[in-house]
Amino acid sequence: FRLSPVTKTTSLNNYSPKTIRNILVNSTPDSEVEVYGWVRSVRVQKNVSFAAINDGSSLKGMQVILTSEEANKLKTGACVRIRGILTQSPGTEQSKELQAQQVEVLGESDSTYPLQKKYHSMEFLRDNLHLRSRTNLFGAIFRVRSAAIIGFQNFFQTNEFFQIHTPIITNSDCEGGGEVFKISANKKKNIKIEHTKDGLVEKDFFGSPVYLTVSGQLHAEILACAMSRVYTFGPVFRAEESLTSRHLAEFWMLEAEIAFMFNLDELLDFAESCLRETTKHILNTCSQDLEFFNQWVDEELSTRLESTTNKPFIRITYSEAINILSKANKKFEFQPVFGTSFHSEHEKYLATDYCRGPVFITDYPKEIKPFYMRVNPDGKTVACTDLLFPKVGEIVGGSLREERYQKLVKRLEEFNLNTEEFQWYLDLRKYGTIPHGGFGIGFERYLQYITGMDNIRDVIPFPRSTNFCKV
Ligand code: 4AD
Repeated sequence: FRLSPVTKTTSLNNYSPKTIRNILVNSTPDSEVEVYGWVRSVRVQKNVSFAAINDGSSLKGMQVILTSEEANKLKTGACVRIRGILTQSPGTEQSKELQAQQVEVLGESDSTYPLQKKYHSMEFLRDNLHLRSRTNLFGAIFRVRSAAIIGFQNFFQTNEFFQIHTPIITNSDCEGGGEVFKISANKKKNIKIEHTKDGLVEKDFFGSPVYLTVSGQLHAEILACAMSRVYTFGPVFRAEESLTSRHLAEFWMLEAEIAFMFNLDELLDFAESCLRETTKHILNTCSQDLEFFNQWVDEELSTRLESTTNKPFIRITYSEAINILSKANKKFEFQPVFGTSFHSEHEKYLATDYCRGPVFITDYPKEIKPFYMRVNPDGKTVACTDLLFPKVGEIVGGSLREERYQKLVKRLEEFNLNTEEFQWYLDLRKYGTIPHGGFGIGFERYLQYITGMDNIRDVIPFPRSTNFCKV
């Protein structure tokens, strides 16, 4: 594992210091360099002392050799500028190190700095959200997070997609789960008081109830029915009262919407290659960080990621999955029952124990899936999929969309939804309807799989979940 190449010159490097990563990759031994960063640890010894300096641009940062007098001036957490000569390191931990000539403290650190060179529990680090990104682990997670975004972007650009922005404030509950955060304006001046026959009625800012979006899908469909291939990547919000390790109240979803999609297998193929290519991008650009995660997970990283990049994902129907679960030699807390949604223990069994790799479950009963999914010829199931990954469970949800006007009206009625409120959505079927489909990738769930982190709160810089909204 080594650092992959960085661009030799960036416009920022013309007036601002080079990153440590850039220096490590591009500067040759014996050259004079200037390093900026935060002190991660200091080891003061009689003859020669060491300081680990990191600016977050790579996992290990720079090892600096300095005198005990200089080292004594450095406190963990302080921000420093160090000039010196880059040398070949005799150690095995790093290939280059810095022989300090001039050490300058730019920002002192108080002795109460909570991060020390020892094991800190995840809970402790969550209590220090504002500082945890300075640890090796969280630096690595957030660099991988950034690489994953680029990987997805590259994939969609290569496939001739347009990136669009769907709104955060909406008036529809796309998934119909009722897990929406309602927004209200606080300022009195925003509230209109209107007279009606029944007395005074307070009308809020938008004139009708609005919510934080649970998914950008319905708006993405509007754009797909005009621009053919679109994707949106943004935060979505769910008021789920679930204190689990896979649920956030605010998470990021990558949603693709594709016109001229005639069958479900095409959608599955596309979602599969999207995850495969993105994972390859992360493997190519973050090998050092990925190697670091190995010490946190119970199996080798290469084995864990192999299935996403090499082996085809397994595909089974909901009925087959129920069958597998009912024959499983395992005691579930909740018995799998046909016609009900899977619990997380079922999803984990299917992907982790039975398939030992990613598995698409398709064709769920229509009653347990949202109104917009296309009804199959059997009239009982819908052309949809949930993609389950080992350990994490559901990572992707997607479907063909019901493009037939009358059938969509029927579905809205079955769900007791007001067809007038959805007239704009029906119009897409009235004016030049087209078979289309799409999916949404739970970005943090995908990152849990890649990094091996147990808790979803540890793959997002600022987690929001039940009883938790700090910083
Ligand atoms: O399966 P979901 O609910 O699908 C949709 O919202 C579709 N409208 C997407 C689309 O077709 N454009 O959510 C998609 C994914 C899930 O598979 C899961 O990975 C993730 O979003 N997810 C969550 N991630 C974190 N916290 C939560 N509370 C999540 N709920 C869903």
